[in-house]
Amino acid sequence: MGKVALITGITGQDGSYLSELLLSKGYEVHGVIRRSSWPNTGRIDKTFDPESKQYIHYGDLSDGIDDLLYSIQPDEVYNLAAMSHVKISFDVPIYTSEINAVGVCRILEGIRKLGLAKKTKFYQASSSEMFGITPPPQNENSVFNPVSPYGCAKLYSYHLTRSYRSGYGLFAANGILFNHESERRGVNFVTRKITRAACRIKLGLQDTLRLGNLDAKRDWGHSKDYMRAIYMILQHETPDDWVVSTGETHTVREFLESVFEYLEIPMEKHVIIDESFKRPNEVPALLGDSTKIQTVLGWKPEVSFKQLVKLMIDSDLKEVALELLK
Ligand code: NAP
Ligand code: GDD
Repeated sequence: MGKVALITGITGQDGSYLSELLLSKGYEVHGVIRRSSWPNTGRIDKTFDPESKQYIHYGDLSDGIDDLLYSIQPDEVYNLAAMSHVKISFDVPIYTSEINAVGVCRILEGIRKLGLAKKTKFYQASSSEMFGITPPPQNENSVFNPVSPYGCAKLYSYHLTRSYRSGYGLFAANGILFNHESERRGVNFVTRKITRAACRIKLGLQDTLRLGNLDAKRDWGHSKDYMRAIYMILQHETPDDWVVSTGETHTVREFLESVFEYLEIPMEKHVIIDESFKRPNEVPALLGDSTKIQTVLGWKPEVSFKQLVKLMIDSDLKEVALELLK
């Protein structure tokens, strides 16, 4: 019989790719979606085929998912749900802590109290934002120095995951993932904001693009590669903590230049620096050293920075062209 997985955050960028990956491996996939006033399943609609083994349940990390854990008795839980926007976490720090920290405690406690500790493996979506102002390169042994409510809440969950592993023998693993993007990236993260706006400028639908700090450096990979990594993390014989990154870093300015160059539009005419997009605290530079996962699990990223930029632009050009037809 195939394995059963429960994914929180299935409607997000990562959740949608992970669901596709697990379905392709014969898994029965259960996803938690939250109630919204407008459809939030756009990224997973194509996997809602009557033949597919993807099942959707309403739930929220503020409520806990004990009933689902009990009825589904999953082999693997991937906790991807989060308030995932760093800048917005400064606006809603308490909500961010409630979901990204206490929400994770609810799931771990659920697994423990329901007697699933021996059956259910748990994956926590930890983040390179936890390194904060620690200078690069960052690996599993680097000091955590978070400077945002998001980073602080994620660090709580990182440690809680380790503590349920050591205290209760849970197979509980952390992936410390560096920034990863895709054609499905949320439109208010910097890469997608840039590719989408530049395509709209190219096709005459928009004139300006307002951005904050262009000097920050990020290690950007593709979400599909990173979902392959987290699957491998839960298949390893022992639970552990793993950095997942490309080992290459670029400034936001370099990303921006690559996009405008590719589309052959002059940047100076269209880009405006807007202080309101800057953060109270910034993480200046992220560059991951993923030697551990590459040597122990044999994982490697396949999509290069250049390919990522191209994939995102080509997809946005198509999307914006459809907008023009409306
Ligand atoms: P995303 O696109 O923003 O997806 C977040 C998901 O969480 C969505 O499905 C969202 O539902 C769901 N969610 C939010 N609040 C919830 C709540 N209260 N209860 C239940 N579900 C809730 O983020 P992503 O890029 O796929 O990232 C996935 C996870 O990896 C997140 O935990 C993120 O913090 C972490 N992470 C991401 C990166 C990255 O660069 N992408 C790097 C490191 C770690 P709606 O669709 O209804 O909003
Ligand atoms: N979003 C955004 N919007 N960021 C901007 C803008 C803007 O207009 N202008 C400049 N930036 C800069 C930010 O200040 C930051 O330094 C960088 O672009 C990347 O911002 P985001 O794309 O919002 O990503 P992030 O690095 O803050 O957070 C992402 O990566 C984390 C892992 O390091 C998110 O996916 C988090 O969920 C994830 O944990």
